[in-house]
Amino acid sequence: MKKSFSQKHLLGIKDLSRDDIELVFETADNFKTVINRPIKKVPSLRDVTVANIFFENSTRTKISFELAQKRLSADVVNFSASASSVSKGETLIDTVKNILSMKVDMVVMRHPSPGACVFLSKHIDASIINAGDGTNEHPTQALLDAYSIREKLGSVKGKKVAIIGDIMHSRVALSNIYCLQKLGAEVMVCGPTTLIPKHIGTLGVKVESDLIKALNWCDVANMLRIQLERQDIKYFPSLREYSMLYGLNKERLDSLKKDIVVMHPGPINRGVEITSDVADSIHSIILDQVENGVAIRMAVMFLLAGRN
Ligand code: CP
Repeated sequence: MKKSFSQKHLLGIKDLSRDDIELVFETADNFKTVINRPIKKVPSLRDVTVANIFFENSTRTKISFELAQKRLSADVVNFSASASSVSKGETLIDTVKNILSMKVDMVVMRHPSPGACVFLSKHIDASIINAGDGTNEHPTQALLDAYSIREKLGSVKGKKVAIIGDIMHSRVALSNIYCLQKLGAEVMVCGPTTLIPKHIGTLGVKVESDLIKALNWCDVANMLRIQLERQDIKYFPSLREYSMLYGLNKERLDSLKKDIVVMHPGPINRGVEITSDVADSIHSIILDQVENGVAIRMAVMFLLAGRN
Protein backbone atom coordinates (compact mmCIF):
# COMPACT_ATOMS: atom_id res chain seq x y z
CA MET A 1 0.00 0.00 0.00
CA LYS A 2 1.29 3.47 -0.91
CA LYS A 3 2.19 5.40 2.26
CA SER A 4 1.31 9.08 2.63
CA PHE A 5 2.26 11.81 5.06
CA SER A 6 -0.47 12.37 7.67
CA GLN A 7 0.00 16.13 8.09
CA LYS A 8 -0.84 19.15 5.93
CA HIS A 9 1.90 21.16 7.68
CA LEU A 10 5.12 20.33 9.50
CA LEU A 11 4.62 22.36 12.66
CA GLY A 12 6.37 20.06 15.11
CA ILE A 13 7.55 16.49 15.64
CA LYS A 14 4.88 16.16 18.35
CA ASP A 15 2.23 15.88 15.60
CA LEU A 16 4.01 13.16 13.60
CA SER A 17 3.55 9.41 13.81
CA ARG A 18 6.43 6.97 13.68
CA ASP A 19 5.22 6.03 10.16
CA ASP A 20 5.44 9.70 9.09
CA ILE A 21 9.04 9.91 10.32
CA GLU A 22 10.02 6.66 8.62
CA LEU A 23 8.37 7.85 5.39
CA VAL A 24 10.46 11.04 5.54
CA PHE A 25 13.61 8.91 6.02
CA GLU A 26 12.80 6.55 3.12
CA THR A 27 12.08 9.53 0.86
CA ALA A 28 15.28 11.25 2.03
CA ASP A 29 17.26 8.09 1.15
CA ASN A 30 16.16 8.55 -2.47
CA PHE A 31 16.93 12.27 -2.49
CA LYS A 32 20.35 11.66 -0.94
CA THR A 33 21.17 9.52 -3.97
CA VAL A 34 19.93 12.32 -6.23
CA ILE A 35 22.05 15.05 -4.62
CA ASN A 36 25.17 12.93 -4.90
CA ARG A 37 24.73 12.53 -8.66
CA PRO A 38 26.48 14.84 -11.16
CA ILE A 39 23.01 16.18 -12.13
CA LYS A 40 21.48 17.01 -8.75
CA LYS A 41 18.16 18.43 -9.87
CA VAL A 42 14.78 16.69 -10.21
CA PRO A 43 11.48 18.22 -11.44
CA SER A 44 9.41 17.06 -8.41
CA LEU A 45 8.34 20.57 -7.29
CA ARG A 46 8.18 22.23 -10.72
CA ASP A 47 5.35 24.85 -10.69
CA VAL A 48 5.36 24.89 -6.86
CA THR A 49 6.31 28.25 -5.31
CA VAL A 50 7.82 28.31 -1.82
CA ALA A 51 8.38 31.39 0.36
CA ASN A 52 11.14 31.26 2.96
CA ILE A 53 10.11 33.71 5.67
CA PHE A 54 12.77 34.26 8.30
CA PHE A 55 12.10 36.56 11.25
CA GLU A 56 15.29 35.35 12.97
CA ASN A 57 18.87 34.78 11.82
CA SER A 58 19.88 31.48 10.25
CA THR A 59 22.77 30.07 8.26
CA ARG A 60 22.27 26.29 7.95
CA THR A 61 18.47 26.04 7.93
CA LYS A 62 17.92 28.87 5.44
CA ILE A 63 20.59 27.73 2.98
CA SER A 64 19.55 24.10 3.36
CA PHE A 65 15.87 24.82 2.61
CA GLU A 66 16.75 27.02 -0.36
CA LEU A 67 19.12 24.43 -1.78
CA ALA A 68 16.51 21.70 -1.25
CA GLN A 69 13.90 23.82 -3.07
CA LYS A 70 16.26 24.45 -5.98
CA ARG A 71 17.20 20.75 -6.22
CA LEU A 72 13.44 20.01 -6.47
CA SER A 73 12.98 22.71 -9.19
CA ALA A 74 10.61 24.80 -7.05
CA ASP A 75 10.29 28.56 -7.53
CA VAL A 76 11.69 30.28 -4.44
CA VAL A 77 11.14 33.67 -2.84
CA ASN A 78 13.13 34.75 0.21
CA PHE A 79 11.85 37.16 2.81
CA SER A 80 13.90 38.55 5.65
CA ALA A 81 12.01 40.46 8.36
CA SER A 82 14.74 43.05 8.88
CA ALA A 83 14.44 44.18 5.25
CA SER A 84 10.63 44.11 5.09
CA SER A 85 7.53 46.12 5.97
CA VAL A 86 7.34 44.26 9.31
CA SER A 87 9.60 47.04 10.58
CA LYS A 88 6.81 49.48 9.55
CA GLY A 89 4.29 47.73 11.81
CA GLU A 90 2.71 45.12 9.50
CA THR A 91 1.32 42.07 11.35
CA LEU A 92 2.47 38.49 10.78
CA ILE A 93 -0.87 37.47 9.23
CA ASP A 94 -0.99 40.50 6.92
CA THR A 95 2.61 39.93 5.86
CA VAL A 96 2.04 36.27 5.02
CA LYS A 97 -1.40 36.86 3.40
CA ASN A 98 0.20 39.45 1.11
CA ILE A 99 2.92 37.01 0.14
CA LEU A 100 0.37 34.23 -0.44
CA SER A 101 -1.81 36.46 -2.63
CA MET A 102 1.09 36.33 -5.09
CA LYS A 103 0.23 32.58 -5.48
CA VAL A 104 2.70 30.99 -3.09
CA ASP A 105 1.99 27.31 -2.32
CA MET A 106 4.21 26.61 0.70
CA VAL A 107 5.73 28.68 3.50
CA VAL A 108 8.91 27.87 5.42
CA MET A 109 8.97 30.08 8.51
CA ARG A 110 11.40 30.79 11.34
CA HIS A 111 10.07 33.03 14.09
CA PRO A 112 11.28 33.97 17.61
CA SER A 113 7.85 33.31 19.19
CA PRO A 114 6.91 29.76 20.24
CA GLY A 115 3.65 28.78 18.50
CA ALA A 116 3.98 31.31 15.65
CA CYS A 117 3.69 28.58 12.98
CA VAL A 118 0.66 26.96 14.66
CA PHE A 119 -0.97 30.40 14.87
CA LEU A 120 -0.31 31.07 11.18
CA SER A 121 -1.60 27.63 10.16
CA LYS A 122 -5.03 28.58 11.50
CA HIS A 123 -5.20 31.63 9.24
CA ILE A 124 -3.82 30.55 5.86
CA ASP A 125 -4.39 27.69 3.42
CA ALA A 126 -0.80 27.06 2.27
CA SER A 127 1.33 24.33 3.87
CA ILE A 128 3.63 25.68 6.58
CA ILE A 129 6.97 24.21 7.60
CA ASN A 130 8.34 25.29 10.95
CA ALA A 131 12.01 26.20 10.56
CA GLY A 132 12.29 26.94 14.29
CA ASP A 133 9.80 28.79 16.51
CA GLY A 134 11.45 30.32 19.56
CA THR A 135 12.13 27.76 22.29
CA ASN A 136 9.41 25.41 21.01
CA GLU A 137 10.32 23.12 18.08
CA HIS A 138 12.74 22.79 15.16
CA PRO A 139 11.28 19.70 13.46
CA THR A 140 13.52 19.44 10.38
CA GLN A 141 16.60 19.66 12.65
CA ALA A 142 15.33 16.72 14.73
CA LEU A 143 14.55 14.73 11.58
CA LEU A 144 18.03 15.30 10.15
CA ASP A 145 19.61 14.49 13.53
CA ALA A 146 17.76 11.18 13.88
CA TYR A 147 18.42 10.39 10.19
CA SER A 148 22.16 10.97 10.79
CA ILE A 149 22.12 8.62 13.81
CA ARG A 150 20.32 5.97 11.68
CA GLU A 151 22.93 6.43 8.95
CA LYS A 152 25.89 6.17 11.36
CA LEU A 153 24.63 3.43 13.71
CA GLY A 154 22.22 1.49 11.46
CA SER A 155 19.10 2.37 13.45
CA VAL A 156 17.78 4.73 16.11
CA LYS A 157 15.79 2.09 18.02
CA GLY A 158 17.49 1.05 21.26
CA LYS A 159 20.22 3.70 21.04
CA LYS A 160 21.02 5.90 24.01
CA VAL A 161 21.17 9.58 23.14
CA ALA A 162 22.33 12.27 25.60
CA ILE A 163 21.30 15.84 24.76
CA ILE A 164 23.78 18.04 26.60
CA GLY A 165 23.78 21.77 27.38
CA ASP A 166 21.17 24.50 27.35
CA ILE A 167 18.01 22.37 27.34
CA MET A 168 15.87 25.20 28.75
CA HIS A 169 16.18 27.52 25.72
CA SER A 170 16.54 24.87 23.02
CA ARG A 171 13.93 24.05 20.38
CA VAL A 172 16.36 21.42 19.07
CA ALA A 173 16.18 19.57 22.41
CA LEU A 174 12.37 19.34 22.47
CA SER A 175 12.04 18.22 18.83
CA ASN A 176 14.86 15.69 19.33
CA ILE A 177 13.21 14.24 22.43
CA TYR A 178 9.91 13.70 20.57
CA CYS A 179 11.60 12.31 17.45
CA LEU A 180 14.07 9.96 19.17
CA GLN A 181 11.43 8.55 21.51
CA LYS A 182 8.98 7.94 18.65
CA LEU A 183 11.76 5.95 16.96
CA GLY A 184 12.48 3.88 20.09
CA ALA A 185 15.66 5.53 21.42
CA GLU A 186 16.36 6.22 25.10
CA VAL A 187 16.96 9.91 25.78
CA MET A 188 18.86 11.66 28.56
CA VAL A 189 19.20 15.40 29.06
CA CYS A 190 22.29 16.73 30.81
CA GLY A 191 23.34 20.22 31.86
CA PRO A 192 23.45 22.63 34.78
CA THR A 193 20.24 22.28 36.81
CA THR A 194 19.47 25.94 36.02
CA LEU A 195 19.30 25.06 32.31
CA ILE A 196 17.08 21.97 32.68
CA PRO A 197 13.32 22.71 32.75
CA LYS A 198 11.78 21.50 36.06
CA HIS A 199 9.15 19.24 34.48
CA ILE A 200 11.26 17.72 31.70
CA GLY A 201 11.05 14.30 33.43
CA THR A 202 7.35 14.15 32.48
CA LEU A 203 8.50 13.68 28.87
CA GLY A 204 10.04 10.34 29.87
CA VAL A 205 13.69 11.40 29.60
CA LYS A 206 16.46 10.66 32.09
CA VAL A 207 17.94 13.75 33.75
CA GLU A 208 21.63 13.99 34.68
CA SER A 209 23.74 16.89 35.89
CA ASP A 210 27.10 15.06 35.70
CA LEU A 211 28.60 15.25 32.20
CA ILE A 212 30.95 12.28 32.67
CA LYS A 213 28.06 10.03 33.79
CA ALA A 214 26.03 11.14 30.77
CA LEU A 215 28.93 10.47 28.39
CA ASN A 216 29.53 7.02 29.87
CA TRP A 217 25.83 6.18 29.50
CA CYS A 218 25.26 7.28 25.92
CA ASP A 219 25.96 6.01 22.40
CA VAL A 220 25.44 9.51 21.00
CA ALA A 221 26.15 12.92 22.59
CA ASN A 222 24.29 15.83 21.00
CA MET A 223 26.07 18.96 22.26
CA LEU A 224 23.85 22.04 22.31
CA ARG A 225 24.87 25.67 22.08
CA ILE A 226 24.43 27.99 25.03
CA GLN A 227 21.68 30.30 23.74
CA LEU A 228 22.90 33.55 25.27
CA GLU A 229 20.49 35.53 23.06
CA ARG A 230 17.50 33.90 24.84
CA GLN A 231 18.90 34.23 28.38
CA ASP A 232 17.64 37.31 30.19
CA ILE A 233 19.34 36.36 33.48
CA LYS A 234 22.60 34.58 34.34
CA TYR A 235 22.13 30.79 34.51
CA PHE A 236 25.80 29.99 35.32
CA PRO A 237 28.74 32.08 36.56
CA SER A 238 30.77 32.30 33.33
CA LEU A 239 31.32 30.62 29.97
CA ARG A 240 34.73 29.46 31.26
CA GLU A 241 33.09 27.67 34.18
CA TYR A 242 30.41 26.20 31.92
CA SER A 243 33.08 24.87 29.61
CA MET A 244 35.05 23.37 32.53
CA LEU A 245 31.97 21.43 33.73
CA TYR A 246 30.00 20.75 30.54
CA GLY A 247 32.37 21.24 27.61
CA LEU A 248 33.25 18.15 25.58
CA ASN A 249 37.02 18.00 25.02
CA LYS A 250 39.38 15.31 23.74
CA GLU A 251 40.57 14.32 27.21
CA ARG A 252 36.99 13.59 28.29
CA LEU A 253 36.22 11.74 25.06
CA ASP A 254 39.39 9.61 25.34
CA SER A 255 38.62 8.74 28.98
CA LEU A 256 35.42 6.88 27.97
CA LYS A 257 35.45 3.09 27.76
CA LYS A 258 33.70 3.09 24.36
CA ASP A 259 33.48 5.22 21.25
CA ILE A 260 30.54 7.58 21.10
CA VAL A 261 29.12 9.60 18.22
CA VAL A 262 29.33 13.38 18.67
CA MET A 263 26.70 15.68 17.19
CA HIS A 264 25.98 19.41 17.24
CA PRO A 265 23.13 21.24 15.47
CA GLY A 266 25.26 24.37 14.93
CA PRO A 267 26.19 27.13 15.16
CA ILE A 268 29.11 25.88 17.30
CA ASN A 269 30.73 27.96 20.02
CA ARG A 270 34.16 26.35 19.71
CA GLY A 271 35.84 26.08 23.11
CA VAL A 272 32.56 26.46 25.02
CA GLU A 273 30.30 23.39 24.56
CA ILE A 274 32.81 21.53 22.37
CA THR A 275 36.51 21.96 21.55
CA SER A 276 37.80 22.07 17.98
CA ASP A 277 39.71 18.79 18.31
CA VAL A 278 36.41 17.03 19.13
CA ALA A 279 34.24 18.94 16.62
CA ASP A 280 36.69 18.04 13.84
CA SER A 281 37.44 14.48 15.04
CA ILE A 282 36.40 11.13 13.53
CA HIS A 283 33.78 10.84 16.30
CA SER A 284 31.96 13.93 15.01
CA ILE A 285 29.15 13.70 12.41
CA ILE A 286 28.42 17.43 12.49
CA LEU A 287 28.99 17.98 8.76
CA ASP A 288 27.04 14.79 7.91
CA GLN A 289 24.13 16.36 9.78
CA VAL A 290 24.37 19.44 7.57
CA GLU A 291 24.60 17.34 4.38
CA ASN A 292 21.62 15.21 5.44
CA GLY A 293 19.60 18.36 6.15
CA VAL A 294 19.20 19.01 2.42
CA ALA A 295 17.87 15.49 1.69
CA ILE A 296 15.54 15.62 4.72
CA ARG A 297 14.13 19.01 3.70
CA MET A 298 13.66 17.84 0.10
CA ALA A 299 11.74 14.85 1.48
CA VAL A 300 9.52 16.97 3.75
CA MET A 301 8.61 19.45 0.99
CA PHE A 302 8.06 16.66 -1.55
CA LEU A 303 5.70 14.79 0.82
CA LEU A 304 3.74 17.92 1.78
CA ALA A 305 3.40 19.04 -1.85
CA GLY A 306 2.25 15.54 -2.86
CA ARG A 307 -0.35 15.50 -0.12
CA ASN A 308 -1.78 18.85 -1.15
N1 CP B 1 20.86 24.39 13.31
C1 CP B 1 20.33 25.59 12.99
O1 CP B 1 19.12 25.82 13.10
O2 CP B 1 21.24 26.49 12.53
P1 CP B 1 20.85 27.94 11.95
O3 CP B 1 20.36 28.76 13.12
O4 CP B 1 22.14 28.48 11.36
O5 CP B 1 19.79 27.76 10.92
